[in-house]
Amino acid sequence: MNIHSTAVHAGDRKRAGEGAHKRRDYTPSTTPIHLASTYFYDTAETVDKIFAHEEHGYSYLRYDNPTVAALEEVVNALEGGHGTIACASGMAALHLALHAVLLDRPKRILCASQLYGATINMLTKVMEPFGTITTFVDICDLAAVEQQLAEIKPAVLLMETVSNPTLRVADLDALGRLCRAANCVLMVDNTFATPMLVRPMEHGAHVVVHSGTKYFGGHGDVMAGLVTYDAEHEPLVRQLSRTYGPVIGPFEAYLTMRGIKTFPLRMERQCENAAKLAAWLRQDPRVERVIYLDDPAHPDRAVIDRLFAPGLSGAMVSFTIRGAEKADVFRFMDALKMVVPATSLGDVHTLCLYPLIASHRDVPPKQRARLGITDNLVRFSLGIEGPADIIADISQAMG
Ligand SMILES: Cc1ncc(COP(=O)(O)O)c(C=O)c1O
Repeated sequence: MNIHSTAVHAGDRKRAGEGAHKRRDYTPSTTPIHLASTYFYDTAETVDKIFAHEEHGYSYLRYDNPTVAALEEVVNALEGGHGTIACASGMAALHLALHAVLLDRPKRILCASQLYGATINMLTKVMEPFGTITTFVDICDLAAVEQQLAEIKPAVLLMETVSNPTLRVADLDALGRLCRAANCVLMVDNTFATPMLVRPMEHGAHVVVHSGTKYFGGHGDVMAGLVTYDAEHEPLVRQLSRTYGPVIGPFEAYLTMRGIKTFPLRMERQCENAAKLAAWLRQDPRVERVIYLDDPAHPDRAVIDRLFAPGLSGAMVSFTIRGAEKADVFRFMDALKMVVPATSLGDVHTLCLYPLIASHRDVPPKQRARLGITDNLVRFSLGIEGPADIIADISQAMG
């Protein structure tokens, strides 16, 4: 072979037992990164059967890939779905999921008024111009939800298990029942709670979406999204994914799967740290209001106790700094030495976010006030550091 041909072909496309893969009986102990974008088989007939879904096999990275499939399998097992598709980001996953359920239904969405800002932007600025109508509702007000389901007859109800940053928890069981009675798909973004705390499909959700960038990845080094669906929605989600191509790359799939191996351990520690921080904040006179899900007076106490895994109240804590204005909050954030004042959540390191300038920047002040997002509210995503170090850092930053 000419050196150009050798450089391109030597070493590649060997089967077990050939070339560098001399042994046939080895199995990597963890899923490797399969970077190939295409796959070939011994006969054209096999390729034909794979394309026709008559035989299982990988054909093209936009359709499937062994590393991506392994990530999908583990997330599906964690969420208890029929199947899962991994996407390049949480937003890509939400977009895919919404379009899939709306494909053969009326283009009407009922959605929780407290949602991640980019999700609201996607609904109002991207999907509405394409003819989708979105109506917002207080998801904790079951009578209002029932009324809207009857009035606007939406195809899908979109909500987050735990709202951001005020940590409200809606009654998934009741919403599941209402949606099924109204022939409406219940789609739940479970990013904040994760399947460690709640498995929405056990409470009536048809589709569960995740930003895998958060607790699943967990190390602040990867972006991923997941759509877990029931049997009814498999054909639509799969078909649309193959056409849209929102798929995750194999390297990111590998990193996310690697993160997932320690996700339950991290989550336990993060929840413990959150409970310790909330307890400390409650007794500090510089703090006005503490929002954490272990609060006996939490407005959704009974729902949390029914839905959440015992002893785990999540790893997000929001609080208001007494008398602080925007400049004081800026000073507080700048004074943090270990806690990272950066946008995101779910990482091994504790993160602090100021909703006013980040997640709720585009929300009009009146609406922010209605949602309880005051100018002195900060949100913490607890990491796995020593709890005393986290508390000491926050304490010194409050001055
Ligand atoms: C609840 C929630 N859903 C979805 C997303 C979007 O995820 P990604 O940033 O991976 O696209 C985020 C991002 O912060 C989020 O907090």
